Parts: sequence; structure tokens; C-alpha cells
Amino acid sequence: MPEKGSHENEGMRVNETSQSSLLEPIGLSGLKLRNRVAVAPMTRVSATENGIPTEPMARYYAEYARGEFGLILTEGIYPDRDRGQAYLRQPGLVTIEQVQGWRRITERVHQNEGVIFAQIMQCAPRARITSGGRTHSSRCW
Ligand SMILES: Cc1cc2nc3c(=O)[nH]c(=O)nc-3n(C[C@H](O)[C@H](O)[C@H](O)COP(=O)(O)O)c2cc1C
Repeated sequence: MPEKGSHENEGMRVNETSQSSLLEPIGLSGLKLRNRVAVAPMTRVSATENGIPTEPMARYYAEYARGEFGLILTEGIYPDRDRGQAYLRQPGLVTIEQVQGWRRITERVHQNEGVIFAQIMQCAPRARITSGGRTHSSRCW
């Protein structure tokens, strides 16, 4: 029987270590994440047509925070009012209304002790679809 920590036991030991590390806190740019599990950025197409984040989006992000994910990355957010929006109902971070909408979301996440980063996604060079006078791309990432 190999001793604990010996070469023969390495696979099991590494496996156990990585599992326990995954759930341990970690520092990131001055922030403390409660674990190393992150939510990948996922488009929701749930903003208003003007790119204002909505209540269902707030519930969605707050739910991840309640579920104790260490880090939440938002869906891609457009930063340019005229040429940035890639698809209909993509949220922006340009107008006051959009900023206020995101503030409602970040407050809900923070109330649940979550950490959330905005993914800024500028898609104009890949725009393909024209709708309502604006150009949209079906996919940007
Ligand atoms: C519904 C959906 C929406 C997504 N939206 C974005 C997005 O807004 N920004 C982005 O960078 N990636 C987006 N992705 C890509 C994911 O973040 C992720 O990179 C991809 O699903 C591959 O995951 P994997 O590396 O675990 O296989 C999206 C994926 C899905 C399935």
C-alpha cells in the first residue's frame, strides 16, 4: 500500500487538492472572491430595444449570486450608442437609463454578496443584420 503523498498516490492527491481549491476564496484585483467558480458571459437578449437592462435580468444575475458563484461575468454589453449594438435586445452601457439599469443589477448582486464584472463588447466591425435603421451582428464573441 503506497504511503499518502507518495508518487503512486499522486493522482488522487492532485484531484482532491484541485477540488478543494475550487471552493476556496481567492483575491482578484483587490476583491475577495468566495470561490473560483465563475459564470461565463452569456447573452440573454432580455434588455429593452433601447438596450436598458430589465427586471428579469436582475433576477437572473441575483440568482447566480444567491447560488454563491465566486464571480459573475455579464453578457456582452455594447459601449457605443450608434454602432456598438450587435443584436436586438442586447444591453448597453451608454445612456443614463442603461447605467441605472445596470446599477439595479449590481446592487441586487452585491446584496447577495456576489461579485460581478461587466463584459464590454464592441461588435461594430462584425455587424451584419440591419433592423430598424441600426446594424446588428448575429454573433460577436
Ligand atoms: C447562450 C450563450 C450566450 C453567450 N454569450 C456570450 C457573450 O455575451 N460573450 C462572450 O464572450 N461569450 C458568450 N458565450 C460564450 C460562453 O461564454 C462560453 O465561452 C462558451 O459557451 C464556451 O464555453 P466553454 O469554454 O466552457 O466550452 C455565450 C455562450 C452561450 C451558450
